[in-house]
Amino acid sequence: MSQPTETQQAMAHQSSEQRTIELVMPRGHTVAVHAIGSGQPIVLVHGFPLDATIWQRTLGPLVARGYHVLAPDLHGFGKSSAIEGPVTISDLAEDLEHMRRVLVGDQPIALAGLSLGGYVALEYWKQYASHLRQLVLSNTKPFADSPAARQGRLDMGQRALVDSTWSAVSPMLPKLLSQRTLENDLETTAQIKAMMAAVRPTTIAAIQQAMADRHDFSGELSMIHVPTLVITGEHDVISPPAENQEWAARIPSSQMHSIAGAAHLPMVEAANDFNQALLQFLN
Ligand code: MLT
Repeated sequence: MSQPTETQQAMAHQSSEQRTIELVMPRGHTVAVHAIGSGQPIVLVHGFPLDATIWQRTLGPLVARGYHVLAPDLHGFGKSSAIEGPVTISDLAEDLEHMRRVLVGDQPIALAGLSLGGYVALEYWKQYASHLRQLVLSNTKPFADSPAARQGRLDMGQRALVDSTWSAVSPMLPKLLSQRTLENDLETTAQIKAMMAAVRPTTIAAIQQAMADRHDFSGELSMIHVPTLVITGEHDVISPPAENQEWAARIPSSQMHSIAGAAHLPMVEAANDFNQALLQFLN
């Protein structure tokens, strides 16, 4: 009798219990994939400087609606292996495709990306559009950086290497969370701070470089024919609602949703509203 393939083994272990699968990528590094549930596959890609636990409040409602959720720690983040050389957003999209092939076989996926995760999701669309069922672009943007924003990224990377991750990334905290969360939800604030501070300095530098070099999708939005949900937070200054409205309108089959009261991380700050918008779109 032939041995079960890696895909068959992964499918046989789908369950309502969360598990972490360590996948060795073709380029040799390991990507940790947090997996839960069974049914239609959906991939959730975290933002910067975070990891897959940012989706913790999204998992239960997706599993209850019959989704097989895969939330990878991108290369360099969380439980995935450290980055040892240059990495590109395209490399991160290739990792997602390897994960899809190994864990769900031929099935197309719904793909949701938060901010950096949105850059990776757009790159995935560029390379593998036919493998996508639906696309969710959360708190992200399709265009490239201004020269000043680009320089800011390179400075942040240097600061992380020379000083520490926290000294480099702490100015981002008041942009990630709304004033209301920072003042009243100390537990969530502490979780986000811990997640940020835990990112390796080498990851901060390599991923800032990758984001600075990312592809500009502004001229390709009209070619995105996969059903797309563009979602942001009312108080998001990194990906503001008015700006989202403008570029989302250029994606033919898109809808846009702004989450009241939230800033850059609506999946933690306004989890119920975020989950409702996500499920309504997916279904
Ligand atoms: C993120 O949340 O992933 C970052 O804000 C992305 C960025 O720095 O552009």
